[in-house]
Amino acid sequence: MRRGKEEPIIRSGLDIGTRKISLIVTETDPLSSEMQVIAVGSARARGMSRGDIQDPDLVVESIRRAVDEAETAFDLNIRDTFLAVGPSSASVFRLEHRFPFREEGTPERPVTGKDMKDAVKGAVRAARERGEELLVHAIPLGYSVDSGSPVRDPRGLKGSELSVEVLFIGLPEDEVKRSITCAEKAGLKVLGVVHKSIASAYGSLSEEEICHGAVVVDIGAGTSTVTCVRDGAVRDVTVSPVGGDLVTQDVAKLLMIPPSKAEYLKREISLFEDPCDLMDELEFELDGEPFVATVQDVLDIVFPRMEEILFDFLSPRIEEFGQEKGLRSIVFSGGVAGAMGFLDLINDNYEIPARIGGPVNAMSLPPPARGCEFASTVGIVNYLLEREAHPENLLEPCLVELTGAPDEEQARDILILEPRRTGPGRNIKRGKGPMGGFIDALKNAFRELF
Ligand SMILES: Nc1ncnc2c1ncn2[C@@H]1O[C@H](COP(=O)(O)OP(=O)(O)O)[C@@H](O)[C@H]1O
Ligand SMILES: [Mg+2]
Repeated sequence: MRRGKEEPIIRSGLDIGTRKISLIVTETDPLSSEMQVIAVGSARARGMSRGDIQDPDLVVESIRRAVDEAETAFDLNIRDTFLAVGPSSASVFRLEHRFPFREEGTPERPVTGKDMKDAVKGAVRAARERGEELLVHAIPLGYSVDSGSPVRDPRGLKGSELSVEVLFIGLPEDEVKRSITCAEKAGLKVLGVVHKSIASAYGSLSEEEICHGAVVVDIGAGTSTVTCVRDGAVRDVTVSPVGGDLVTQDVAKLLMIPPSKAEYLKREISLFEDPCDLMDELEFELDGEPFVATVQDVLDIVFPRMEEILFDFLSPRIEEFGQEKGLRSIVFSGGVAGAMGFLDLINDNYEIPARIGGPVNAMSLPPPARGCEFASTVGIVNYLLEREAHPENLLEPCLVELTGAPDEEQARDILILEPRRTGPGRNIKRGKGPMGGFIDALKNAFRELF
């Protein structure tokens, strides 16, 4: 995992959203395990629609802008990175796989770690046969021996057959390929792909919440994800093609103003306005003329759409997860959760304690990156740490595993639609880029499992 004792471990994540593309780079002291954020960059995403890439050239440019911002401000060169992607659709399913681990004619014996890996391997093979989607996560939810009660860790239990239930997240292959290609054309080297729902959860939940149960609702510009976490693992995920862009579009359409002005207006109002302020005027210039709308005008457009997103689209998902028992809290993240009055709106409508989920350890981030829209960005590196600490809980195929190719070079040929830009000076200078070693270790850990 590390090459020299003093060399810090560098981890980097690129979060490709519909409205913004952001990058985080962290450095961890291998001795103290203390992690600090060493760079953040962010740019308006162009060429994206509802989580999908519409115009790859514009996306490449946006990625470059985010990377340039981080490189310039923090004086480093960034190359290796993990991607968080959230296309408009995902295929999320559970599969149970039975693995007879006792050889015929031999007595019952205790389950070993290898048996667990073999059982998961079998589930992955079965899942691959099932569909077209590219599997990006395989999360074991529980094991049972000879149809006994499910447990998280079956090692030591005696029996003949081990069953494992695995949660799979599969994404449209073309969309993942497009994201990887865009990042590589922007000069980065993609080491793995994380689904945005998982990044949001690890970016906004405390360890206690991950253990005791919480639902994370990330409302972005074009898509929203609901992630149910309990007993230290992600247990379910849904993706809805709704987000803050719908609100902006409504304001733009009904007031007949450009989306940029609509975006400004919606951010100026609170979802829980003081009645005394409803007639306040919001003013800007449009084609050289002053344009005036009252707070009430804007709120009348914004509020019903926000209610629809929250209560018609997302609440049923939250309730579904809640019924599964053990839901202690709801955490809202993503840019929309930063709307003024959002907390009052959710506190008024949910009985379960709810909070706004800014990035965990937000104070370690530069002030512009402390908002809840950065939770999923921070979550990429937190996810990597978690996966490193519990490789048996979070399984994410590396590029070779994603494609089934014999080696990484061939995996790249399959995944990347056009060759990436190569050139000198794109490696992380600081800490001499031990990321490669770190990633190799992760990949090996994964290969061992699959
Ligand atoms: N203060 C705010 N008030 C209302 N909406 C906001 C605010 N800040 C961000 N948003 C909305 O949040 C969305 C962007 O969230 P973000 O998580 O950055 O999106 P994505 O990850 O999809 O790029 C946009 O629709 C934007 O209008
Ligand atoms: Mg987001």
